[in-house]
Amino acid sequence: MTQWPEPYRIKMVETIRLTPKEERIRLLEKAGYNLFQVPAEAVFVDLLTDSGTGAMSDRQWAALMRGDESYAQARSWFRFYEVVKGITGMEHVLPTHQGRAAENILFSTLSKPGLVIPSNNHFDTTRANVEFFGAEAVDLVVPEGKDIHAKLPFKGNMDLNLLEDLLRSRGRAGIPICMLTVTNNTGGGQPVSLENIRATSALCRKYGVPFFLDACRFAENAYFIKQREPACAGMSILEIARAMFDCADGATMSAKKDGLGNIGGFLALRDGDLAVQLKNALILREGFPTYGGLAGRDLEAIAAGLEEVTEEPYLAARVGQVARFGEALIANGMPILEPTGGHAVYLDAKGAFPHIPGEAYPAQSLTVALYSEGGVRGVEIGSFMFGKKDPQGKLVPSAMELVRLAVPRRVYTDNHLGYVAEVAGEIVRHKERFGGFRIVEEPPFLRHFTAKLAPLA
Ligand code: F0G
Repeated sequence: MTQWPEPYRIKMVETIRLTPKEERIRLLEKAGYNLFQVPAEAVFVDLLTDSGTGAMSDRQWAALMRGDESYAQARSWFRFYEVVKGITGMEHVLPTHQGRAAENILFSTLSKPGLVIPSNNHFDTTRANVEFFGAEAVDLVVPEGKDIHAKLPFKGNMDLNLLEDLLRSRGRAGIPICMLTVTNNTGGGQPVSLENIRATSALCRKYGVPFFLDACRFAENAYFIKQREPACAGMSILEIARAMFDCADGATMSAKKDGLGNIGGFLALRDGDLAVQLKNALILREGFPTYGGLAGRDLEAIAAGLEEVTEEPYLAARVGQVARFGEALIANGMPILEPTGGHAVYLDAKGAFPHIPGEAYPAQSLTVALYSEGGVRGVEIGSFMFGKKDPQGKLVPSAMELVRLAVPRRVYTDNHLGYVAEVAGEIVRHKERFGGFRIVEEPPFLRHFTAKLAPLA
């Protein structure tokens, strides 16, 4: 077998429509060339995110009907708890409405001014939650994780030397917790090896610092470990996942990714005292601890999703589809970050649009081109998103100019992604038609969601 087909067939379809090009151009103008402001109905292939955009299975839809909406100790809670505990081995589970709520509750207790919280790469919301409560969020990914062309198996790994330097210099008193994101979304959806997870955990233990996984894409990470780490080739996905969680004192989770849910998340912990403390915050922000931020039916759908996501044929089809998408893009002349990650392909806009300087937002130009030419929506991860400025207020271009095309789970066929690759190929072949942008209106923070742009003359 060179390619594993999806271990499911299609039972229901949802119509999508390619609006005429003139309409797309009008909508772009109206949206200030910001794809977050374009109506989803006018998007043909939507690769903005893999979060909450997956297709639920017949088992999950059936599970919704079994939702027990009792306020406390509902049957659905016990079902959810047993599945999460079964995968993580962690005794204490706090359900939340999505991943960032779990982060908010965790860091509202652990993050304080003067402290440092390391990770391989903090995801935006994780960084924002850490910094909102005062600590400094630092990224310690291995150097090859920043090289978009290095074809290496575990580019999401933690740099153990940098971590040990930090642990030695700041100690337990200065580091309340160490995080590790699996897979590493910010670094291109790259996996972390089990060896690196174990070594990170051992270092944290040596210095007495609690170690947590950001486990949003734990199953995709476990699949890469099985494929790429010879010592783990004979283990099942569940065994690898358990080995990953065994290293950790806790985990934050967005069930909108590897929970195969449209909403949901949780915080899992071993420390009962910390759990009691965090449950108070949970009650204030999310809800009573046996439903958190979720309806009983959501708890049921996520429990079923967490069971399905660790099935190897599903993961083989999933990760295989993303890899084939990457190959199709390369075959069409579009440069990408390699190797492809678990959930997305990242286009290299510097390579695709070498004529557009960083100050003119090449990755945003490519994002706009994908929509104007093909009705495809991706997300810019470059100078527009990061938007760092020097003391004179001048833009400091980002080191990488990427466009993320995230693949929703079980939603699009290879045919859709082949279409996207062809659109991308046309754009690269006619790159001189696409120019830079300038920002005409921007909010004080998180500008990429609402800022308005205009094409440079
Ligand atoms: N951690 C990681 C690694 C993530 O990718 C995300 C979300 C979160 C935490 C937060 O979870 O959205 O449920 O609150 N990532 C989405 C994305 C939004 O498009 O990559 P959430």
